[in-house]
Amino acid sequence: MNHQDEPIPAGEAEAIRKVVGLSLKMLDRGPKPVPRGQHPKAHGMVRAEFVVDPSGLPPECRVGLFAEAKTFPAVVRFSNGAQTDDRKPDVHGMAIKLLGVEGVKLIPEERDATTHDFILIDDPVFFIPDAVVYAPFFEAFAKAKGDVPSTLRSALFLLPKGPRMLAALLSLYYAPRAFKGLGLLTRALSKKPDSPLTSRFWSTTPYRLGPRAVKYSAIPATTEAPPRADSQDLLRLAMKSTLDRGEAVFTFAVQLQADATSTPVEDPTVEWDEKRSKFIPIARLVIPRQEFDTESRRTFCEHLSFTPWHALPEHEPLGGINRTRRAVYQAVSAERHRLNDKPRIEPTLADVEKL
Ligand code: HEM
Repeated sequence: MNHQDEPIPAGEAEAIRKVVGLSLKMLDRGPKPVPRGQHPKAHGMVRAEFVVDPSGLPPECRVGLFAEAKTFPAVVRFSNGAQTDDRKPDVHGMAIKLLGVEGVKLIPEERDATTHDFILIDDPVFFIPDAVVYAPFFEAFAKAKGDVPSTLRSALFLLPKGPRMLAALLSLYYAPRAFKGLGLLTRALSKKPDSPLTSRFWSTTPYRLGPRAVKYSAIPATTEAPPRADSQDLLRLAMKSTLDRGEAVFTFAVQLQADATSTPVEDPTVEWDEKRSKFIPIARLVIPRQEFDTESRRTFCEHLSFTPWHALPEHEPLGGINRTRRAVYQAVSAERHRLNDKPRIEPTLADVEKL
């Protein structure tokens, strides 16, 4: 059985509609700019080079971006999942946008964009298997918080507190898959990294690579971070300390699916065991020495949109969580751009060079 044969849960389309509706409802419509629905706090947007070397890949996987040795310019946004204070535990994000990527892209309205995105977090798994489990979880969460949008981000950290939240969570305890999810969520939200530039990140969800399914990981060249500042912006300060003096490098690697049972596509709560399928390096992400902490970069970054569906068809996102993200990221990003009165346009290298 390969990934094409894995069953899609019944009720997925309805569940995705529910998640889209709730995501829009919970968008923080307070002071402008209206932030992202998730991962609103950026530590910075850096410029980078993505240097592809596909020599370690089986020949049938040398497709799309990884067809040949090539260098793409890129920008990378590092973020917290929810927290505004970096001293508090959280999950963290790394969103890479390659620039100058030729070829027709997957989203019809953005088919001529010259970007390709990779979105990763500092945990190897996502806490929910599919949209059908995610929808009631998200609904219970929204209800427990009384649908107060601006508290979504801090809410995750209040999970054990308050009788309403407890009641909502207890109802989930009776669903074994949601129960597993709570354990994974607690683990994902427990990270206290010293620097985004020394953290490891994973896609958690799979992507097509020619005839195969793969997951991505970005592995830092060093885990030695600068001394930890006692500041709510310690992750930005750590990045600045490193990039004021020199470069930071990640190895970008793919893990090929072994089989549909031990390395499923439709359930990102299952970690693909590195003993069964090891990560194969396919690119180096080089972030040169630079001054990234500027007003123009911050504004530019705020109005960018990342989605796994900004992609070439050779690297199509796979699995139900990615299908859910197609609709959710599109809707949330469109709405925040509308509210912020900003056009939603994929950047070119020329746009980035002006910063
Ligand atoms: C059904 C599941 C998911 C939902 C509903 C969801 C929802 C969202 C939303 C609404 C945004 C903000 C989009 C925007 O305003 O432009 C976002 C951003 C983000 N999500 Fe997800 N997400 C899901 C799964 C995941 C997974 C599996 C990952 C793992 C890599 C992930 C990592 C991120 C990151 C890193 C960002 C920030 C991207 C940036 O820097 O702009 N999400 N998500």
